Amino acid sequence: MNATAQRSQPLEHGAGPLAGRAELHPQKASAHVRFTQLGKVYEGRQGPVAALKGIDLDIQRGEVFGIIGRSGAGKSSLIRTINRLEQPSSGRVLIDQVDIAAFNEDKLVELRRRIGMIFQHFNLMSAKTVWQNVELPLKVAGVPKEQRQRKVAELLELVGLKDKHKAYPAQLSGGQKQRVGIARALVHDPAILLCDEATSALDPETTQSILGLLREINQRLGLTIILITHEMAVIREICDRVVVLEQGEIVEQGPVWQVFGDPQHEVSKTLLAPLQHVLPDDLHARLHAQPSDKSASVVLDLQFTGSTGNEPDLSALFNAFGGRVSLLHGGVERIQGRALGHLLLAISHSPLSIEELLIRARKQAQHAKVLGYVA
Ligand SMILES: Nc1ncnc2c1ncn2[C@@H]1O[C@H](COP(=O)(O)OP(=O)(O)O)[C@@H](O)[C@H]1O
Ligand SMILES: [Mg+2]
Repeated sequence: MNATAQRSQPLEHGAGPLAGRAELHPQKASAHVRFTQLGKVYEGRQGPVAALKGIDLDIQRGEVFGIIGRSGAGKSSLIRTINRLEQPSSGRVLIDQVDIAAFNEDKLVELRRRIGMIFQHFNLMSAKTVWQNVELPLKVAGVPKEQRQRKVAELLELVGLKDKHKAYPAQLSGGQKQRVGIARALVHDPAILLCDEATSALDPETTQSILGLLREINQRLGLTIILITHEMAVIREICDRVVVLEQGEIVEQGPVWQVFGDPQHEVSKTLLAPLQHVLPDDLHARLHAQPSDKSASVVLDLQFTGSTGNEPDLSALFNAFGGRVSLLHGGVERIQGRALGHLLLAISHSPLSIEELLIRARKQAQHAKVLGYVA
């Protein structure tokens, strides 16, 4: 689960068939993609629907950027304005500081080649082989045969499908289909890859392998990856930063460790709840608002947000509390090299008052509260 830690050790350039391409995408201080006051209104059956309301957002070159939010929040609308599959109703989308609104048809075609996209349902041509599916956009673009063959071979190698080039989509697993989708999205050496729920149709193991491939592409080719997912584990695994959308507005954004370690907005808290160490049912049933007798244990919820960069110091905690301390539930996980999570501790026979316990707990943890008492 410490895949994010690997991000600080980029794969060596000079290895593999696509080596050196990262140099085509030099670092720039300015945002790769910038939305300013972006608005989108659809004409729905029951009148206008405001899907995006004044979005201001920068996505940096080379980062893996996650977009989360409830269904209907505007995630797909936002991502689709980047290649102008959706036309903004107001505001601007700048790519490399260029406003794409003014692009004519020719420039749009060029833009879309610089931006690859993969989808939940792969969108492959069922009557074409793996090879033909990847080759098609190159044919459409009028790329000469020899060059096409080199490119397709190189990409099938990259996505691990060299042996499957003659297969048809129906003969492939979901993960293999998405690998074809990824190869096809990369044919024009895009600088940006958009992923709209690209792993949502895959089982967890296959999701892991696709995420591994996306990470490799990000590091080896220097691609900016912008991904939408409802799977929080996907964000945790590969994203650098994340934005939370709700009803067409940004309600929270930041580095993944920060948003996951200490979500501020109700929507973020709800979305991330499955990853939090909340009270299991059996413990909940045993918990009382007041101590039943003198020997009852107080249950503290200590939250570590990762903000200090330190791991929870258990010996310091136990020494500070005195008495008996047992760990009821919880744990920490590492995201981007930071340890964050909850520890639910039951403390009994301590000479300290509840107030004093909380003061001491807060010297170690970023948040601490009393959940109740257990006998
Ligand atoms: N083509 C469309 N016509 C009318 N309403 C749309 C259209 N596309 C999306 N919407 C509406 O815009 C809102 C945002 O949709 P979408 O961007 O697909 O959200 P998400 O991807 O977060 O689920 C929703 O209320 C949706 O119903
Ligand atoms: Mg969507």
